[in-house]
Formats: sequence, C-alpha cells, structure tokens
Amino acid sequence: MQHLHGKHIVLGLTGGVACYKSAQLCRLLTKAGATVQVIMTEAAAQFITPVTMQALSGRAVFTSQWDARPDNNMAHINLSRQADAIVIAPCSADFAAKLAQGRADELLSLLCLARPYGKPLLLAPAMNREMWAHPATQRNFAQAAQDGAQVLDVGQGEQACGETGDGRMLEPEELLQDIAASFVPKRLAGRSVLITAGPTFEALDPVRGITNHSSGKMGFAIAAAARAAGAAVTLVAGPVHQPTPRGVQRVNVQSAQDMLQAVQAHLAPADIFIATAAVADWRPAHYAMQKIKKDGSGDLPSLAFVENPDILATVAATERAKNGQLYCVGFAAESENLLANASAKRLRKGVPLLVGNIGPATFGQDDNSLLLIDGQGSHALPRASKISLGHALVAEIARRLPTEAAN
Ligand code: CTP
Repeated sequence: MQHLHGKHIVLGLTGGVACYKSAQLCRLLTKAGATVQVIMTEAAAQFITPVTMQALSGRAVFTSQWDARPDNNMAHINLSRQADAIVIAPCSADFAAKLAQGRADELLSLLCLARPYGKPLLLAPAMNREMWAHPATQRNFAQAAQDGAQVLDVGQGEQACGETGDGRMLEPEELLQDIAASFVPKRLAGRSVLITAGPTFEALDPVRGITNHSSGKMGFAIAAAARAAGAAVTLVAGPVHQPTPRGVQRVNVQSAQDMLQAVQAHLAPADIFIATAAVADWRPAHYAMQKIKKDGSGDLPSLAFVENPDILATVAATERAKNGQLYCVGFAAESENLLANASAKRLRKGVPLLVGNIGPATFGQDDNSLLLIDGQGSHALPRASKISLGHALVAEIARRLPTEAAN
C-alpha cells in the first residue's frame, strides 16, 4: 500500500448500516500510513459514534459546518484543501442526490462542493437493493461521476434489511485497494494485459504430480499493479493460494498445456503479455488413470517424460508480437549467473524485455530483486516488496511500449 503512505484522506460517513465497515476502513488506512480526517453527517452518527471514529483516526471528528474550532471558522475550506482525496463511505442514496444537485446544507456536502477542481472524490455507495436499482439513484450517481467523482462498485449479497442483491458497500479491504489504486498514475489506461503466474501441476496419476515452489506472488502483484494503472487484466494462474486482485479476471489452470490453451483463448485483445509463471519444463509421457501402486516386488515404476510447450516463445512468435502490436515480457528464474543466463534467455525466447530473478531466493517470499534486460542493456530494481516491484515493473513496461500500440 505504498501509494497510501503519507496521504491525507478525508473520510466522510453518511447514514447507513455500512458505517460499521468504515471503522475498519479507517483503521486500514492509518495502518497503511495515511492520516485520516473523519467527517460524519447527522445520520451517520445514528449508526456509529464520532467517539469510535476519533479513537480510530486519532483526530477529532467534524460533524457540523458550525464547528468553531478552525480559526477562520471555515471547516469546509480547510478540510477540503488539506485532503489528498475525499472518500465518502458509505455514500447513501440521499447523499448522491445532494451531490448531483450541488446542494450544500451540511458540512460534508458543502465540503464536496467546495473542493478544488481535480481533487479526487471517491464514492462508495451503500443501500438497499431497490434503492440502488432505482432510476433516480442511478441517475444521481451517474451525474456525480460526470461531475468528476469516482463511483466505486457495490458488493452483492445479503443486506441488513434481510434482502439479497446489489447495493452492499464493498468490504474495507476492497475499498482500501480501490483508494490506493486511485493514486496510481494511469500509465496503462486503455491497454489490455495478459499475465501467467504460479507453477503448473503435471499430473502423473489421480493423486500425484510434478510441480515447483512458485507461489505466484510476483505475478499476482504485477496483475494488481497493471489493473491499478488502468489496464484490463487477465491473469492465467496455476494452482496457488493467492487472493484475486480487485478488478482482475482470473482463469485457473493446472498443467502447462491448460495454461497454453487459456493464454491462446485470451490473447486476442492483449497489448501486453507478461509470462511470470514457473511452467514445468516436462510432463509425464503417460497419465495413469488409477493410482500407480507398489506391487511388493521392490521394482520402481518407469517414468518417461515429454517436453511441455514453451508458452512464452509460442506467444512471442505470433504475428502480432512480431509486428510489435503485442509487447512480450518474459521472466527468468535462475540459480546463478543471472545476467548471462537471462540475456541468453531473452534472445532464445525472442522477447524485447526479460526480467531476471534468482528463483530459490524469491519463491514464496514477499520481496524480490529484479534485473531488467532489454536490447539496450540491463537495469536493476533493488530488493523491495513484490507489490512495489510490481508497480515499478509496470512503469518500466509502460515506458517501453511502442506508441503506435497506444489507443
Ligand atoms: N516459460 C513458458 N513456458 C515454458 C517454460 C517457460 O512460458 N514451458 C516462460 C516463463 O514463464 C518465463 C520464461 O519462459 O517467462 C523463462 O522461464 P524459465 O523457467 O526461467 O526458463 P526455461 O525456459 O524453462 O529455461 P531453463 O529451464 O533452461 O532455465
């Protein structure tokens, strides 16, 4: 959550049961290094007390435009000027109506209206499904979006009223990701990115197979960073236990052959292909339909292998890649001689950019260091969290994209 560190967030609460989630959101924001100034409407204070929000944010909560604490008595001006972003969570149907009409009869709506041009305003709608679906509500949020607000998604599921449907506020973790993403420069806006991640699993029989230690963390971090940078992202993932990043389309696969098939099925719209997967080089030549049993003789089973398709090399050899319409990025998991091995691999795979790392030093870890190799030479990204390396790599890729591939 590097993009939240040092940021000042004005967190506005309007009336709704979802106010209980805003307490957790406040906590997550401060843990991510942001300062949070809470502002509550009268209705919000019916659901959660300013005392709770003050304790969690470490700052006195504002609830009234007549609050005499600011020297100039202009809380709406001071608070909106100090903010790096204003987040309304929950944003009620009534508050959206106020925003759409430009009303300013209490502190929070006044502050939104008084915010300087371009100051980010994020709305996290929360309401009953019928209220959410009502044309007036949809119209009001659409108007607020047209006037510059970013309207976040709603969740789906059981509601406090006992009904089930669209209109729940997103979970605090999801809101945190969306708020962080709002600070990421949209370097890949309009682009489509296809990524492979994780190991593959090559089945031997119904209970055994060959795989490796790849955790998928690096590929998932790149997927999250590409999405935050504005790209449409499809992530073809081998068997890993990673949560799907917000807004990313995930396709789960097992074997290298499945992975190749999934990649080919999703390749058409892609402008960028990033192969981070640790694909098994070989698979058993024969799959035993039943578990291979010991027969008591002490004889070992004879296992034969065949080579798996090289997904990256296959994609890099397509016409679109060769014509420069698809920018291909490979990874190299090496155990020694990173520069020499990775440089040779870049040429062998036929890709413009290859990212080298030391496999045993990074598999399963939360951090990594990368060596970027392209036609011009090499460039190191020093050890850092995989999340921040994901953002750095996306910036490096965006910089190298041929401009004619831009939308
Ligand atoms: N790769 C792939 N399909 C394969 C093997 C590798 O798409 N069958 C991709 C990986 O996702 C990575 C790059 O090729 O982007 C290099 O993978 P790596 O495992 O480092 O190298 P290999 O090609 O397997 O070569 P070697 O085992 O000799 O190091």
